[in-house]
Amino acid sequence: MNRISDTHIEEIRSLTDIVDVVSDYVRLKKRGTNFIGLCPFHTEKTPSFNVNPGMGIFKCFGCGEGGDVFHFMERVEGLSFPETVRLLAERAGVQLPEEEGPDEDASEKEAAYHALRFAARFFHDNLTRGEAGGVARAYLKQRGYDAASIRKFGVGYAPDSWDALLLAAEKQKIGPDVLAYAGLVVPRREGNGWYDRYRHRLMFPIFSHVGKVLGFGGRILREDDTPKYINSPETKIYSKSRVLYGLYHGKNAMRHREEAVLVEGYTDVMSLYQAGVQHVVASSGTALTVDQVALLGRYVKTIVLLYDADAAGQRAGLRAIDLILAAGLIPYAVQLPDGEDPDSFVRTKGGPAFDAYLREHRQDFVDFMLAQAHKSGEMDAPEGQAAVQRAILESLSQIDDPLVRESYLRVAAGKMGLPDVQLRPLLTGMMRRRKPTSSASADRQHGAPAPEASPLSAPAAESAPVDNQDISEPHAEPMPPEKFLHYLMLDGGLPIVEYVMGHMAVEEFTEGPSRELATELVRQYAADAFDRKRILGGGAGEGVQRLAAEVLTQLSEPSMNWERRRNISVPKLSDGPREAAGSAMVLLRLRHIHRKLDRLKKDLYRAQQTGTDMHGLLQEQAELLAYRRAVENREFLSTT
Ligand code: UTP
Ligand code: MN
Repeated sequence: MNRISDTHIEEIRSLTDIVDVVSDYVRLKKRGTNFIGLCPFHTEKTPSFNVNPGMGIFKCFGCGEGGDVFHFMERVEGLSFPETVRLLAERAGVQLPEEEGPDEDASEKEAAYHALRFAARFFHDNLTRGEAGGVARAYLKQRGYDAASIRKFGVGYAPDSWDALLLAAEKQKIGPDVLAYAGLVVPRREGNGWYDRYRHRLMFPIFSHVGKVLGFGGRILREDDTPKYINSPETKIYSKSRVLYGLYHGKNAMRHREEAVLVEGYTDVMSLYQAGVQHVVASSGTALTVDQVALLGRYVKTIVLLYDADAAGQRAGLRAIDLILAAGLIPYAVQLPDGEDPDSFVRTKGGPAFDAYLREHRQDFVDFMLAQAHKSGEMDAPEGQAAVQRAILESLSQIDDPLVRESYLRVAAGKMGLPDVQLRPLLTGMMRRRKPTSSASADRQHGAPAPEASPLSAPAAESAPVDNQDISEPHAEPMPPEKFLHYLMLDGGLPIVEYVMGHMAVEEFTEGPSRELATELVRQYAADAFDRKRILGGGAGEGVQRLAAEVLTQLSEPSMNWERRRNISVPKLSDGPREAAGSAMVLLRLRHIHRKLDRLKKDLYRAQQTGTDMHGLLQEQAELLAYRRAVENREFLSTT
């Protein structure tokens, strides 16, 4: 692209809403006159990323990144400045002079985008006017699609010809090599020339989330043609696994309803949209991918899966559930009545009925998994039941946020009719086995972005690794209550290990030997083989050995230095091991809470200095104080 005038840049700026643009990447919440959210440029748990719509700027107080909407797009999409301007111009509906035809030296990609947009217009024109499109028009009409939907989704018709698109493109100086790059034509087998990929098909353009045409899905119009759909091949600009059909049209509704509905087909999306159910997307003929979930995570917290009752549909559902949980989002599953798909359902019963059905029939993932297991007969035998329980725990172990995981664990325990105290150590063991080494997680804890995070997957990186739940300080000396708990577990064996690790996460132990010892005890619990000799003999590492020896030989009831002022009961061995462990856990949690509160106080001070909105921090503080009250009242101990 040649030089872009300042007038154009200012025009684009004035027509662009920075909140709208940023919202494509970050879930923003209004706080006073600003908006805040989790920074897309570094990994963080508490929002320090601010957008000021009045000034048209963003600023992250965590990593320091900041600037105007152009800078945001450059950074988040990894584009050059001219590419950014072009993208925002398109979005704002500003016509740049260069856009009339591709430049001689325009990049291949830009030329392909141009060709795709041209093709979409060509197909759409063929559908809406002219004799050739008659069959397709009649077909759409018979299926009940109105003109507004057809225009909105840019539906088109590819003529019954080997070169209609080739010839029309040639007139616009778009050559076959560019069409081939865009996946629109195919080389002849004889090696001389090209032919149109799509012939006599109904064309659904596939848009990026900002409305660029990336490819097409072409549906048969003659019942005996195969395959039913021809999709664009993977090209340098269309990667199926990173695109969701309907996202461009549905994203506002998603943001508004804080939920996305995942369906199977292009026609499902369009039918639902037309019926007023707009927060809908489909993955174009592929199983849901990590990148697609990350994409949805920019807009919503909840994803509702519609699945088929058949075995394949259920397997796909289970896989999708794990992906969604791993991304820190909440999955629900809904099965439509037999023989219905979303398109048929909404056509006969209407949008509001569809909404109501989704509300009333959604299952959380535990219910979904249990229902599947009952249906398949897996629950009839004890081994089957154990396998199902393990599968549910595996899914739980995908959840990164300890609070969310904890509440699901209780729900799951209740539904499986098992005490959560018994499940927690198994869950912890599973998580340990799957997770990376602690040195890798320690690095990331300090706010460095995950290596190789693509712009698309950046939001997911926030929730992917386990280190987010690491709530104790790295490389610190274990605290007295921890040592006390270790003493109790080493002394009391598996029943006490079950009690303690049933109420605590391994991450609450200080990183290093203390956490390693807790991990080893959980492992022994899971294997149902308590082995203190192994620990004391160095089988679990030298640091663990030393710590175990220390706590077993120099135990002092660590009462004197502990918090006395808040009237907390002090752990005493004479109370018996459980009672003593309970008190020690309370004290340990309070320590963690106080550290967090101290940190918050500093953040609040800094926010006050910089004039940043403090609502988020204050809310967090309120939540922590409520949590502290609950811990002091030993609520977490009395639930089982
Ligand atoms: P369906 O067969 O359910 O089609 O495939 P549909 O979209 O509901 O279309 P109608 O309602 O029968 O007209 C669901 C999705 O699977 C992918 C497409 O993305 C389709 O929308 N698919 C299906 C393919 O990619 N290729 C095929 O041959 C068939
Ligand atoms: Mn269908």
